[in-house]
Amino acid sequence: MRGLITICSFLLVGVLTAHYIGFAHQADSDPKAVDKELEGLNEKYVLRFSHVVAENTPKGLAASMFAQLVREKTDGWVEVQVFPNAMLYEAQAEFDALMKKDIHIIAPALSEVTVIDPNWLVMDLPYVFRNEQMVEDALHGRIGELLFNSISDYGLHGITYWENSFKQVTNRIRPIINPEDIEGLSVRVMPSEALSDTYRVLGAKPRLFPFNEVYDVLSNGVVDGTENTLSNIYSKGFYRQQNYMTVSNHNYLGYAVFMNGKFWDSLPVDHQNSIIEAMNEVTVWLREHSNKINTEMLARIENSNLIEIHHQTESEKMVWRNALKPVYEKYGQIIDPELITEVTKLQE
Ligand code: LMR
Repeated sequence: MRGLITICSFLLVGVLTAHYIGFAHQADSDPKAVDKELEGLNEKYVLRFSHVVAENTPKGLAASMFAQLVREKTDGWVEVQVFPNAMLYEAQAEFDALMKKDIHIIAPALSEVTVIDPNWLVMDLPYVFRNEQMVEDALHGRIGELLFNSISDYGLHGITYWENSFKQVTNRIRPIINPEDIEGLSVRVMPSEALSDTYRVLGAKPRLFPFNEVYDVLSNGVVDGTENTLSNIYSKGFYRQQNYMTVSNHNYLGYAVFMNGKFWDSLPVDHQNSIIEAMNEVTVWLREHSNKINTEMLARIENSNLIEIHHQTESEKMVWRNALKPVYEKYGQIIDPELITEVTKLQE
């Protein structure tokens, strides 16, 4: 009888122990035990935002405004530190630094993204957009959505698109009116194969240099010309080193604002919402102001009398578009067909 009591006692202790251990484990893994929405809200976040342009340009102004709005919306719990003028990294190096979490936000030109994901080349097809409205419809519509989906495979979380303006061509050798005028000239472009091919097809020599080296390569004659928005041409003084400018509006310079996907997911939901709210406000502001800023810069460049300016006419544009057809033929085979369909719809 005593033996039976001993065995029963052992069994009871065993069952209770097993039940306790099992229960304790369950309590630890219960998702309700941690409130995800509040997690991390009592610690301060410092986000480093790196970009390559001057502070008085559309992107420079947008970055500062974003930092201020985020501070206000999070009561200072999220501080965005802005590093302009490629102080930390040039555009291509920013991607690597973002993945290593040395910086937390970047806003590279869309052309820079093409190095990682060729689908983004769709935005660099020459004369693909006739006006700002088309660009806005593309970036903030289906095309923008497809591009962000495509880049998420590379670990980048797209937050929004920012506008700058159309690009213009400058050079020191001769006025560029017809496509043959550009033949033989060396032209600095961003590292996008579609941009390089645009110049190759016309018999010019594309050369790749980071943005913060452009002033030097123009002033010492390493390249004859370049292409950029009026705000970049003015704020970086490129017009001082060039003799001719064609207002061609042949390509659009827009930006994608990215965070590291894993870092974004690790932020408290409340902070994510504040960041999105701030970003939306800045995006709307920029859409209204980027054009105005660029028009103002054109007036300043004109008033300097340092550069001869030609405004490309509609019939000249037709000639350039025809000369550039081979670029469309090549990239129509490379870019995701859905993007090509969407662009064609926009053009119709
Ligand atoms: C460039 O030419 O590299 C620039 O347009 C970059 C920028 O961010 O505007």
